[in-house]
Amino acid sequence: MNTISKDLKDVIDSVKAYIELDRASGINEFFVNKPNTQYAIHNTNDLDVLKKEISSCKRCPLYKTRRNIVFGAGNPKAELMFVGEAPGADEDLQGLPFVGRAGQLLTKIIGAMGLTRSDVYIANILKCRPPNNRPPLPAEIAECEGILKRQIDIIKPKVICTLGKFASQTLLRTETTISALRGNFREYNGIKLIPTFHPAYLLRNPNDKKLVWQDMKKIMKELKLKCPSSPKSQ
Ligand code: URA
Repeated sequence: MNTISKDLKDVIDSVKAYIELDRASGINEFFVNKPNTQYAIHNTNDLDVLKKEISSCKRCPLYKTRRNIVFGAGNPKAELMFVGEAPGADEDLQGLPFVGRAGQLLTKIIGAMGLTRSDVYIANILKCRPPNNRPPLPAEIAECEGILKRQIDIIKPKVICTLGKFASQTLLRTETTISALRGNFREYNGIKLIPTFHPAYLLRNPNDKKLVWQDMKKIMKELKLKCPSSPKSQ
């Protein structure tokens, strides 16, 4: 087989693998990747450079099944940065973090703090979607975490809020449960870090929204943000 037909065969094989993965996940139609511009990314040059640098990342096998890299979005000079776990199906399709149901709840939480998504920065530990939303593997984290570290170095937020067990345990290098971690300020490379529950968890456990609101109030106090009225039921 000559090189061109081998390359073509490789492309056909990867498209087949994509379709098989979609079928296995119950997706029966094709989507055209059209990045959503709803949440503008105001990148500084440094973030742009980093984003470009990883635009064809193949550091781990997740590149084979991703549709888009979900780099992160928001204000490059944000004082507050949220860090989640990994993109899900909606994020993978749109190339933006937290745009599915959990993301809509996060947007409401940010709104209840008197902020918008363009005031904060939102990123994940992993930049590519694990197939079928399985938890990230240690090898994937090891390859990807450096990108998040560089984002944090560029943005220099005053507060990082980790969303859920996974992001909290990864950045804090601990196995302590999220229930024990949440609501307490820790330190990550000299930056204040506060873990809270993941919005996806809140969708399943709405009674715990009040605990997250307590955590958000701590963040507002730390950042000297005016506390708007208590959020109505999200
Ligand atoms: N859950 C996450 O942790 N991150 C996203 O971007 C979306 C859902």
